[in-house]
Amino acid sequence: MSFTKKTIKDVDLNGKQVLLRADYNVPLDDRGQITDDYRLQQSLPTVRYMLGHGAAVVICSHLGRPDGKPNPKYSLLPVAKRLKELLGVEVEFAPDCVGERAKKAADSLQPGHVLLLENLRFHEEEETNDAEFAKQLASLAQLFVQDGFGVVHRAHASTEAVTRFLPSVAGLLLEREVDTITNVMENPNRPLVAVVGGAKIADKIEVLKRFINIADIVAVGGAMANTFLQATGMKIGKSKTEIDDVPLAKEILELAKEKSKNGKFVFYLPQDGVVANKIDRAAKTRIVDWSAHVIADIENYPKRPLRESGLVESDEMILDVGPFSGAFIAGAVQLAGTVVWNGALGVTETVGLQGPVGPFAHGTELLVEAMTGQFGNRPFSLVGGGDTVGYIESRGLLQAFNHVSTGGGASLELMSGRKLPGVEALENK
Ligand code: 3PG
Repeated sequence: MSFTKKTIKDVDLNGKQVLLRADYNVPLDDRGQITDDYRLQQSLPTVRYMLGHGAAVVICSHLGRPDGKPNPKYSLLPVAKRLKELLGVEVEFAPDCVGERAKKAADSLQPGHVLLLENLRFHEEEETNDAEFAKQLASLAQLFVQDGFGVVHRAHASTEAVTRFLPSVAGLLLEREVDTITNVMENPNRPLVAVVGGAKIADKIEVLKRFINIADIVAVGGAMANTFLQATGMKIGKSKTEIDDVPLAKEILELAKEKSKNGKFVFYLPQDGVVANKIDRAAKTRIVDWSAHVIADIENYPKRPLRESGLVESDEMILDVGPFSGAFIAGAVQLAGTVVWNGALGVTETVGLQGPVGPFAHGTELLVEAMTGQFGNRPFSLVGGGDTVGYIESRGLLQAFNHVSTGGGASLELMSGRKLPGVEALENK
């Protein structure tokens, strides 16, 4: 076990008012309805454990980035309603997280009952890690429990300063997240395959470096792959790219080259892609085979393939990995003991336009199939947070993976080997 902090199982909860920091930063639609309650679901074991052990549970969280001012758009009231349905117990709601009304509601809360406080980020003191604000939060309870894994990479009043005023321990979700991710990064079943997609290399530079260090295969997809391809000198038409990240891409490619020299290591960039000139159901798609030279050769045999089959035209965008690259990555997964995946391989948001798998989600779908054992091997599968989780959830496949993290930035930072302030601040075992 890598988790060295005290948890709710190490303390007496009976008859205590407990302040629980959760990450209920969930997506809401225009009507204020929660569109994805994964984070809520994952926090239930902690809440139930504490209620079952005689605690009165006062929950605080942030939602969105309201810039330190109250804003009804970011109210946690819809979360209180959903939490009540999920827990099957009454969930009271306080319209502020500090002040008289919050204090009165917390003080009168009986063991076995739950109170959810309004959005912490309606006060700018939350994000400035203000000690006075943290003291007010702490005055609502006798024990602090950190279970908001998604936010422990931030040193905020409800993750860091509050621990100066109350005995502070971890919840069950935090323990499981830190334990699982740390174990995978430090002691994986090999071969370890890392699949990294998404848009910006800059957001994932540290994690890419760490994977080059520890993994056996690193495969890149998503818009980030476009920037890598651009860094190799390839023309990518009007594909999404981050031109400022090209030097970072070159740095990563150099590191990967060095690593490959020293032994069995593969850094895989897509060799073909699905392109179109718009992201739309009417878009005409084609496969461009820029370096595998397999599909176009076969399709055109005995003639030589047309020049365009290997080139992305100036008005086209690469929107998914091609079938050769998808099969290569799925093949790597067949040999893996562990697969860590962060970020879609193509544009998955067109789901719904053309059935459950959109025109640019085939690469991601193939990866999901491979990771979940549909071709035979079923490696230990860790999915690191963010948008990828929404995709998996929309496909009804959350249970098919070993661990799907509730953290976006937090899971990336933990994978990179960084210390998380909200975890460091808790009491050691
Ligand atoms: C997240 O969604 O990654 C967490 O809730 C943290 O949110 P933040 O990036 O706004 O701090």
